[in-house]
Amino acid sequence: MAEPIILDGKFVSMKIKENLKEEIKNIGATNTRPPHLAAILVGDNPASRSYVRNKIHSCEQSGITSTLVQLDATCTQHELMDTIDRLNNDSEIDGFIVQLPLPDHIDEHQVTMAITPHKDVDGFHPVNLGKMMLSLPCYLPATPYGILALLEHYNLSTSGKHVVVVGRSAIVGTPMSILLSRRAKYGNATVTLTHSRTQNLNELTLQADIIIAAIGRVGFISPDMVKDGAIIIDVGINKLDDPSRKRGYRLVGDVDYEGLKAKCKAITPVPGGVGPMTVAALLMNTVESWKQHHIKLK
Ligand code: GUN
Repeated sequence: MAEPIILDGKFVSMKIKENLKEEIKNIGATNTRPPHLAAILVGDNPASRSYVRNKIHSCEQSGITSTLVQLDATCTQHELMDTIDRLNNDSEIDGFIVQLPLPDHIDEHQVTMAITPHKDVDGFHPVNLGKMMLSLPCYLPATPYGILALLEHYNLSTSGKHVVVVGRSAIVGTPMSILLSRRAKYGNATVTLTHSRTQNLNELTLQADIIIAAIGRVGFISPDMVKDGAIIIDVGINKLDDPSRKRGYRLVGDVDYEGLKAKCKAITPVPGGVGPMTVAALLMNTVESWKQHHIKLK
């Protein structure tokens, strides 16, 4: 097989950020404030900290103002709901996110539903998910939206293709399966949504033109599960012990990257594939919210 196309999310996300910066400059010329994203971080989970830091850095690169609201791991549900309420009512903020996962004593569903849908730039609120299902204008969940943008950049059509999504989480697998089966340019696929109870998973993945792996298990998708010429999208970000690295570990995905490179048509690396695209999608949603606000002010 020829060398696969490496789907470079880092590069594509930089392009998106450059375009957003230009768009903000052009629209913002008429003396409005720049877009503003806030992130609520509860506790000190190192991975969450690093993701939020990344989001804030990406805001800086795009000309988006950002605010980080940090709450202690012991904060009450009530305190978190109050913070959400404050951001819901702050007209200086176009969108905000609550970084997941949350400590066990916090009810995640209640939190998600408390964010007003027009500031829900993560696209997790039931109103946005429902609108997505009906193909109405809405904020799409950041990771699936980022994956669609990546496929679009590389002109990899999904129409008529068999996509096997592995993993049914509410923020990746399930919305991804709905988006890809919609009547839309980067939809029109035949989608199989698989999960931990799926029997004979290999038989399904071997039929896939596109595999989207979002299970959270190191190297779960092996070369014997994939047909020649498939497109592999790896959503996993797992820590693997590696004493040769200064920090003692490296990040790897849900697929056997080296093994699959020899037989696939295209593949996302980890890191530098889907991760940066999730952030780019969040920024696209934030700028969209800002534009809506700007139109209302005019
Ligand atoms: N945790 C893992 N992915 C995400 C995401 O896309 N948004 C938020 N808020 N938390 C996450």
